[in-house]
Amino acid sequence: MFDLKNKVAIVTGAAGGLGEAMASALSRQGAKIAIFDIKEKEGKAVVRKLKTKSKFYKVNLLEEENIIKAIESVKKQFGKIDILINNAGIFYSTPIDSTKKEDWEKIMAVNVTGYFLMAKHTVPQMNKGGKIINISSVAGHHAFPGSAAYNSSKGAVIQLTKTMAMEYAPKGINVNAVCPGIFITPMTKDLSKTKQMKDLIKKSVLLKRPGNADEISGLAVYLSSDESSYMTGSIIDIDGGWTCHL
Ligand SMILES: NC(=O)c1ccc[n+]([C@@H]2O[C@H](COP(=O)([O-])OP(=O)(O)OC[C@H]3O[C@@H](n4cnc5c(N)ncnc54)[C@H](O)[C@@H]3O)[C@@H](O)[C@H]2O)c1
Repeated sequence: MFDLKNKVAIVTGAAGGLGEAMASALSRQGAKIAIFDIKEKEGKAVVRKLKTKSKFYKVNLLEEENIIKAIESVKKQFGKIDILINNAGIFYSTPIDSTKKEDWEKIMAVNVTGYFLMAKHTVPQMNKGGKIINISSVAGHHAFPGSAAYNSSKGAVIQLTKTMAMEYAPKGINVNAVCPGIFITPMTKDLSKTKQMKDLIKKSVLLKRPGNADEISGLAVYLSSDESSYMTGSIIDIDGGWTCHL
């Protein structure tokens, strides 16, 4: 079960955090990995740790030409593409009144347009039986004050996932979204140290702790594998029981 030998996966934003954890887990199951990220040094260091054939591609999701060229190189170098994990994302915490238009647009460009462009250009290169996993957030379906741009971008990822599931089902491509709660990664390491976040975890997360990046790995492997063949259009929370009672 969960055998990914002979599969080729693109994982965006895998130079660290949840992306690295998912890329490593897929590689442990036998998948070859193409990492797309802007952080070259960190991304290459991740590739060196992977046991299967893997390669780092310096890709900025804000640049469509860059995305198209990198996807074509993956197809050329690995021969095929079976799995796309849209994971790269950015987060700003500002109230609506002090959110600059440029910051709003950048979050949308990376977190939503980046996922759309990656899928648009990867799907024509996939065989029947492909998998797309979009990393959203619990903030995609629950509003938290002070991060309207992020919440909106992650809500858009949920709708994008459902629409992709409908449009790609005839091509045999399963599309699902994962909504993490609070995980310790470079994105959240400062935030998770604040009293406000510690109190929130104690009060609202049923398991009373944040997740470790590795705790998303099993779900990513399952959604990438043949075992999830009857699952598409699903939005799956992985949040230590944070939002089930909100
Ligand atoms: N950590 C959490 O608690 C949490 C919770 C919910 C959702 N998420 C989501 O999970 C995903 C991964 O988050 P993480 O916590 O591992 O964050 P992270 O900051 O550790 O990793 C994000 C990666 O995306 C890359 N990236 C950023 N902008 C890019 C761009 N323009 N082009 C290419 N790569 C780019 C970064 O270089 C980085 O390696 C994100 O989509 C995030 O919104 C995280």
